[in-house]
Parts: sequence; structure tokens; C-alpha cells
Amino acid sequence: MKKTIQFRLNGRPTKLTTDDDRRLLWVLRTDLDMTGTKHGCGAGLCGSCTVVVDGKAVRSCQTPLKNVDGKEVLTIEGLEQNGKLHPLQQAFADHGALQCGFCTPGMIMNAYALLQQQPQASRDAIAEGMERNLCRCGAHQRIVAAIEEASHAKGGRS
Ligand code: FES
Ligand code: FES
Repeated sequence: MKKTIQFRLNGRPTKLTTDDDRRLLWVLRTDLDMTGTKHGCGAGLCGSCTVVVDGKAVRSCQTPLKNVDGKEVLTIEGLEQNGKLHPLQQAFADHGALQCGFCTPGMIMNAYALLQQQPQASRDAIAEGMERNLCRCGAHQRIVAAIEEASHAKGGRS
């Protein structure tokens, strides 16, 4: 059903009128020009479309727009601040924790939510928390190492 939906996207008030059953992934990419969020499987299996809604990682390919009405949505575009990469982004770059990079935004957003909930997560907890995000390039070891480093980053921010 067509409806007006309002939410905060990367800290900015956002409002649009559209079919509120549309998936958040496509609204972000096609209506709001937020193409950092990637379409992988489209079936809730790979995690490449992960964004953070009210502090929790969600799969935007499975999330109807109506589910974010009145909420706070964070995408990969919202992490860098004042030209400075978020510690997670910096750690991924430093560790070469990507190859094709397609899974990377979803990996980073899932890791962001994980570290919000467990700021001092152990390596095992990180590996477990990331296991449902798939990387076809096989960068998992480097991804876990990057997240571990970010969790220890001095002067890091949420
Ligand atoms: S594209 Fe959403 S889980 Fe794969
Ligand atoms: S870096 Fe290619 S899928 Fe992960």
C-alpha cells in the first residue's frame, strides 16, 4: 500500500511516499541513491545487504520499508565522518579484508552492530557473529582479524 514513511537515514530525516511493502534494499538503492548497500542473493542468505536499524543488523533485502518507519537506519555511507573512515573501515583497508569488495559493506555493518553489542568481543565471538555473512572470495580470516583490531582501536568511536 502506498504510504508516507519517515525515518532517519545516516542521521538525516528522510521521508518518502511509496509502496510500504517494498524492500528497504531497493528503496535505499533506487530512491535514495545509497548504492553502498549491495544486492547479493536477495533471499536473506548472504548478508551483503546488511544495514543497521536501531542498533541491530538487518537484511535489507528482506525488510519491508514499513518496518523502518520512525527508526534510525545506518548504512555504510553513514560511517565515515568528516573525511575520516570509521575504525572498522580503516581496519578492513589495513588488513586487505576484501577482494572483490562486494560483501564488504554488509560485513562492516554486521560487524558494527556486533561491536555495539559486544565492544570487546573475542576472536571466537567475532567469528561466530560473522558466520552468516558470506564472502565468496574467501577473505574471512582477514575480515575477522580486521574486526578484532577495530574492537581494540584506541580512540575508536561507535
Ligand atoms: S542480498 Fe540480502 S541476504 Fe543476500
Ligand atoms: S570480498 Fe568478494 S565476496 Fe567478499
